Amino acid sequence: MKAVIFDLDGVVVDTAKYHYLAWKKLAEELGFEFGTEHNEKLKGVSRMESLRIVLEVGGIEGLSEEEKVAMATRKNGYYLDMISNIDESEILPGIPEFLEKLKNNNYKIALGSASKSGKMILEKLHLAEKFDVIVDGNLVERAKPDPQVFTTGADLLGIPCENCIVVEDAAAGIEAAIAGGMKCIGVGSKEILGRANAVVTSTKELPEVDLETL
Ligand code: BG6
Ligand code: MG
Repeated sequence: MKAVIFDLDGVVVDTAKYHYLAWKKLAEELGFEFGTEHNEKLKGVSRMESLRIVLEVGGIEGLSEEEKVAMATRKNGYYLDMISNIDESEILPGIPEFLEKLKNNNYKIALGSASKSGKMILEKLHLAEKFDVIVDGNLVERAKPDPQVFTTGADLLGIPCENCIVVEDAAAGIEAAIAGGMKCIGVGSKEILGRANAVVTSTKELPEVDLETL
């Protein structure tokens, strides 16, 4: 048995931009600019780690744990507002065809997302039924680059890690896949995701990747 484990934000659906815009809004309220040049660092990492990165960019120090949790909750509120009307039009190109191809070739399919909204987003996109197992930020404690989100998916599928292929747009996610003993396909630039077994520039190319020779 073989499986493909998908990251969500920036791989299945175009939500990475909303995470960024919500952090940018919070940063502006705190009095600083959070430019796109910092966006890459936010990809794949947990909500609280993202906050730590944002505050570091703004040079904001000395906040209590309660204040930090309140800020992360505020950002999540902005994010949830932004995705409240999300629909199938935000599914990234090639993903429906790739899921179909995997099913026809008897691959098991899992989600491995850091986001606590992962399952809810798949349901909104009417994609949840395409996934045999859904692991999101509610099911795991340790964030990428820790492999827990992917190894939990493999365990729930009952498939050995070496038979799993991860699809990821974040450097932290590629590191997590490698740490979990899995193969991985990066979606994005080779400079950032070069440690993956293969890199495609767009999800459009995923159905063409030869999974057997990774
Ligand atoms: C990841 C995103 O999928 O989920 C990160 O790439 C995000 O940008 C993380 O911070 C956690 O998401 P959430 O929805 O639980 O805040
Ligand atoms: Mg991602």
